[in-house]
Amino acid sequence: MKSEERKRKFLLASTGGSGCGYLLRYFYHLLSVKGETHWIASENFFHVLKQEFSLDWQNINANEISRNISTFFNEKPSAEQNHSFKIYDHKNIKANPASGTSNYEAMIILPCSMKTLASIASGVAANLIDRAADVALKEKRKLILVVRETPYNLIHIENMKKVTLAGGVILPASPGFYHHPKSVNDIYDFIVDRIFRQIGIDKTLVSYEE
Ligand SMILES: Cc1cc2nc3c(=O)[nH]c(=O)nc-3n(C[C@H](O)[C@H](O)[C@H](O)COP(=O)(O)O)c2cc1C
Repeated sequence: MKSEERKRKFLLASTGGSGCGYLLRYFYHLLSVKGETHWIASENFFHVLKQEFSLDWQNINANEISRNISTFFNEKPSAEQNHSFKIYDHKNIKANPASGTSNYEAMIILPCSMKTLASIASGVAANLIDRAADVALKEKRKLILVVRETPYNLIHIENMKKVTLAGGVILPASPGFYHHPKSVNDIYDFIVDRIFRQIGIDKTLVSYEE
């Protein structure tokens, strides 16, 4: 069975790192994947999203995500939407993602700030994002941190090492250029492709010409 044919279930968190375009493009490609995503965003994510794209998503509801994404990418919303969303407040530490009994296949943090990386590396589960990541590690589920900072200081590097040793995947938002991108979306797609490969979504987002 192809991986798109079974219903997928992911946990996605977004924090205040630069690179919200990677997330918008991730949503865009996810819409055609059969399944559901539960999404948690930090307050700082919304600040950065506003700064980068003048988008105010603070009060967005789950049903509006696909329409907003289609509008953003100048496309008509598809009649056949395969993916549904549920949104959790990052302060709601009692919500389902905080529990080891939650059954996500993988958790993706996109973008992942150095502050959230530090919280995860030190086991400080103070909000729902940090706690859900803590749960993913303890339950040995896939945890992917799409980190973004440059340059890194030693603390960032030590934190990435700790999370890697604990079983997480550090997937820096460091796009390659050997696919000859012709637009910024092609650049975002390079990273979305890498995330999809990690979580077993079989889509060709990037073609590598000889
Ligand atoms: C416009 C803007 C861009 C930022 N970009 C980054 C970034 O790329 N990486 C990072 O680690 N922090 C970045 N920050 C700082 C984080 O948002 C800040 O450390 C915040 O406390 C992160 O909190 P959170 O992880 O709870 O969202 C940025 C802040 C702003 C306002």
